[in-house]
Amino acid sequence: MKPIVKIEHLKKTYHTKQGETEAIKDVSFALMPGEFIAIVGPSGCGKSTILSVLCDLLEKSGGTIEKEEKTSFGYMLQQDSLFPWRTILENCLLGLEITNQNTEENKQHVLNLLETYGLKEFIHSYPSNLSGGMRQRVV
Ligand SMILES: Nc1ncnc2c1ncn2[C@@H]1O[C@H](COP(=O)(O)OP(=O)(O)O)[C@@H](O)[C@H]1O
Ligand SMILES: [Mg+2]
Repeated sequence: MKPIVKIEHLKKTYHTKQGETEAIKDVSFALMPGEFIAIVGPSGCGKSTILSVLCDLLEKSGGTIEKEEKTSFGYMLQQDSLFPWRTILENCLLGLEITNQNTEENKQHVLNLLETYGLKEFIHSYPSNLSGGMRQRVV
């Protein structure tokens, strides 16, 4: 069986004005179909960095990542990025608004998704009135 993802000797170094931070180095693992993997470690050890590189949000500094072609990768961010001054619906429509795709049809699709995720009653609520889990579902 082919792995869904195979990571070898992955390395990521952040460059900031303060200097370099070697967030991860020599990380290797493979994920097989149907397998669950937990990456466990203290805060700051590089867990989020691995996921951000895996999902192409960040460029790696070294190593290789082989992905199964048909699989798309995504992950739930630790912090949601909802705007507190916009309602749940307004937050969900933001992407459509700024890309000029806020059509009635697309808005209906968003409303359907919000219903699917059990958030229909809260579309006119503000993020501060939702639990952490509900906010994650909005994202
Ligand atoms: N954007 C960034 N710029 C500079 N350093 C970062 C950045 N993000 C994370 N780091 C550093 O990389 C290391 C790993 O961070 P992170 O992957 O967020 O750890 P974890 O998710 O395990 O808590 C930490 O030392 C952190 O300070
Ligand atoms: Mg993290």
